[in-house]
Amino acid sequence: VVVSAWRWIRFAEEVEPRGSLVWAQAGEALPFTPQRFFLIHGVPDGVVRGAHAHRELHEVLVAVAGEVTLELDDGCEQATVVLDDPALGLYLPPPVWRTQRRYMPGSMLLALASHHYDPDDYVRDHDEFRRLVGP
Ligand code: TYD
Repeated sequence: VVVSAWRWIRFAEEVEPRGSLVWAQAGEALPFTPQRFFLIHGVPDGVVRGAHAHRELHEVLVAVAGEVTLELDDGCEQATVVLDDPALGLYLPPPVWRTQRRYMPGSMLLALASHHYDPDDYVRDHDEFRRLVGP
């Protein structure tokens, strides 16, 4: 049985007539203490983003609005996944090659990151990623 490096995280959620509230705490549902967040939104239809892996960075991705389609590859498993639920996070430990294939109009992707921004942590060359994950 091959288990993918990534996994889904179901956040705590309180749904009530006043509206819904979703949360997660470091050391509980969140597997790391976030040092940074970034948001990607306003992505025009047909634009592909991402297409990289990280050396050390752990991330949790959440489609806080809309629907984002991602392609994932951890070197063993490949999958296309859809993020469309603000109470569902996708945990990506390093190194997972990820491509944001499609943003539905109005979508907003939240990324929680384990470290500050570091361009040297990016693996943007797919051949280098293949060497990193081994045969
Ligand atoms: P990038 O990671 O290249 O986006 P994508 O892989 O989705 O195309 O980031 C785009 C730009 O934003 C790049 O110039 C670096 C900058 N950036 C920061 O300064 N801080 C950050 O935390 C992130 C994620 C990006």
